[in-house]
Amino acid sequence: MYDFDTIIDRSNTDAVKVELCNTVFGTSDITPMWVADMDFPCPSPIVMTLRERIEHPIYGYTVCTPRFQQCIKQWQKHRNNWDVDCRWIECCAGVVTSLSIAIQAFSNVGDGIIIQPPVYTPFFDVVRENERTLLCNNLIKRDNQWCVNFEEFERLAAMPTTKIFILSHPHNPVGREWTIDELRQMGEICVRNNVLILSDEIHSDIMLNGTKHHPMATISDEIANNTITFMSASKTFNIAGLSTSYIIASNTELRSQYARKQHALHIINNMIGPIALQAAYANCETWLNELCTYLSDNVNFVTDYINRYIPEIKIIKPNATYLVWLDLSECNISPADLKHIIYQRAHLGINDGSTFGDGYQKYFRLNVASPLSVIEESLERLKNVFDSIRN
Ligand SMILES: Cc1ncc(COP(=O)(O)O)c(C=O)c1O
Repeated sequence: MYDFDTIIDRSNTDAVKVELCNTVFGTSDITPMWVADMDFPCPSPIVMTLRERIEHPIYGYTVCTPRFQQCIKQWQKHRNNWDVDCRWIECCAGVVTSLSIAIQAFSNVGDGIIIQPPVYTPFFDVVRENERTLLCNNLIKRDNQWCVNFEEFERLAAMPTTKIFILSHPHNPVGREWTIDELRQMGEICVRNNVLILSDEIHSDIMLNGTKHHPMATISDEIANNTITFMSASKTFNIAGLSTSYIIASNTELRSQYARKQHALHIINNMIGPIALQAAYANCETWLNELCTYLSDNVNFVTDYINRYIPEIKIIKPNATYLVWLDLSECNISPADLKHIIYQRAHLGINDGSTFGDGYQKYFRLNVASPLSVIEESLERLKNVFDSIRN
């Protein structure tokens, strides 16, 4: 049994989640449940490996050894039943950096790139900052589920200037693992229209309540041939600060083109990120399984609690990620007042939905990767504020 219940003080660690509360929420008297990292310690084999390395006092240039690819190959086979060849894997810095590199490698200024809001804010940034054209295919709510608008997807993909689709799988912030049918449909539209798929699967190890992940590239050979997958141990094992990720591409041409662009940037290999990943993939799967159980319980608790006590908030229970998308769009309170209620009165630091796309100013994203006691207290404060408004 691992301990996910102890509250760990993150002050004086320069944590974004803690340090930027004042800037983002206008107060530091707040429980931070926003940035997508976890308030749990990463598993001890990672800490031991890093400690051992840090004990050696020379922190010079390092290479990514073949063991890195080997560990990933085994992890993908075991977790996702995906047969990955070591040669398909490139070691990268962060996923967002790699997405930006891929955009530069596979499109030109002005080309169209499809994303599906509400979606992870840097998807907008990497498209805009590289001067490409954002093509937003907003998710639609159907049968109490966030779904892909396939008609609009097809229309956007068919435009001659559309070159890339960035998929969030599972989807941040709605916490959905896409089904095989949905993946196939998105994948086939992209193949038919010669639109490259950048499949960001950074959250794919965080599966809730028994859900199973299916990488986009495992759906068919044609789709694999048209996909670059972006993965990392960072969300899974709470090592995002180590800035290490990897891409997988079975298509040699795509991989070489990506690698050439990455190489041109001369990004120095991170000394500790790759060894942390190897320690994690080789020795921490039991920890991950327990983590997923703990997070499933947290998500189940949050969903039940809100449905029961704060009916103003609508929730579709996520089946992946530790993120819960709170929908207050039908509530008769303005976006500014909602923020005041949540940040200043309930002291709950959660993401403002408007950062995930236009039209989501009455939505919020709650990160439940915290000890249950913290979640219980935070939700009780929120309930009390809503009770006082109602009465
Ligand atoms: C969908 C998605 N992609 C990428 C990232 C960040 O990846 P990295 O820190 O490796 O750039 C996040 C972090 O929240 C995310 O949710």
